[in-house]
Amino acid sequence: MKLVLLGPPGAGKGTQAAGIVKKYNVPHISTGDIFRKNIGEGTELGKKAKEYMDKGLLVPDELVVAIVKDRLSEDDCKQGFLLDGFPRTVCQADALDIELKGLEYSLDRVLNIDVDKEELIERAVGRRICKDCGATYHIKFNPTKQEGKCDVCGGDLYQRDDDTTETVTKRIEVYLEQTQPLIDYYTKKGILSNVDGKQDIDKVFSDIVNILGSES
Ligand code: AP5
Ligand code: ZN
Repeated sequence: MKLVLLGPPGAGKGTQAAGIVKKYNVPHISTGDIFRKNIGEGTELGKKAKEYMDKGLLVPDELVVAIVKDRLSEDDCKQGFLLDGFPRTVCQADALDIELKGLEYSLDRVLNIDVDKEELIERAVGRRICKDCGATYHIKFNPTKQEGKCDVCGGDLYQRDDDTTETVTKRIEVYLEQTQPLIDYYTKKGILSNVDGKQDIDKVFSDIVNILGSES
């Protein structure tokens, strides 16, 4: 199954991606995670990306597109993949179209997770991530059993640099301007499904499974 997860910052894309890749056995391609890994390793790509990410801006299209093209050409994407946080501009969506045609792939579905702005800020600012296994929690909506420690592996939790109220507000603005047009873009292609992201995590997931269930 070849999928794209669309939605504003903090909508729950990463949270739902974890369940989707497990159930449908496809690789998870998160451009945000790829950039954060590069930042952690101090690579040139990481240094360039950080300048934009810290300000809540999008990393330039040419950098992102090159990374995704490379990743999609790997063998494990033949059976399917889940793109999370890509595409984010019409230019990226067009580039993805061209790349998929070249590989003789087509997207099965684009899932658009929708949540109100006030809740997005609360979700992002309260997010905590395990520094060892990457599991995502929320101080109020999805707390760990022991404060500051991951339920899965016991690792310490951290907060992302771009999860401040100010930067999240900017990221939402950027989303509305540059990414929201993709809802129309994929609706016109007939492959967009809207998911109500305001429900609790398990209910959002079961709605997604209902949409994807019969597809393979
Ligand atoms: P990226 O890492 O993609 O971040 P994002 O799109 O802003 O999305 P988030 O990771 O903030 O949120 P999410 O929807 O995954 O929510 P989550 O599941 O964690 O991008 C970061 C930056 O990288 C960008 O700003 C940009 O600079 C750059 N970048 C990345 N891709 C790019 C691209 N293609 N082009 C250019 N630049 C790019 O959930 C959030 C919180 O809510 C968690 O705490 C979670 O526990 C909680 N939660 C989740 N679901 C629920 C629920 N149903 N109810 C209650 N709480 C919930
Ligand atoms: Zn962990």
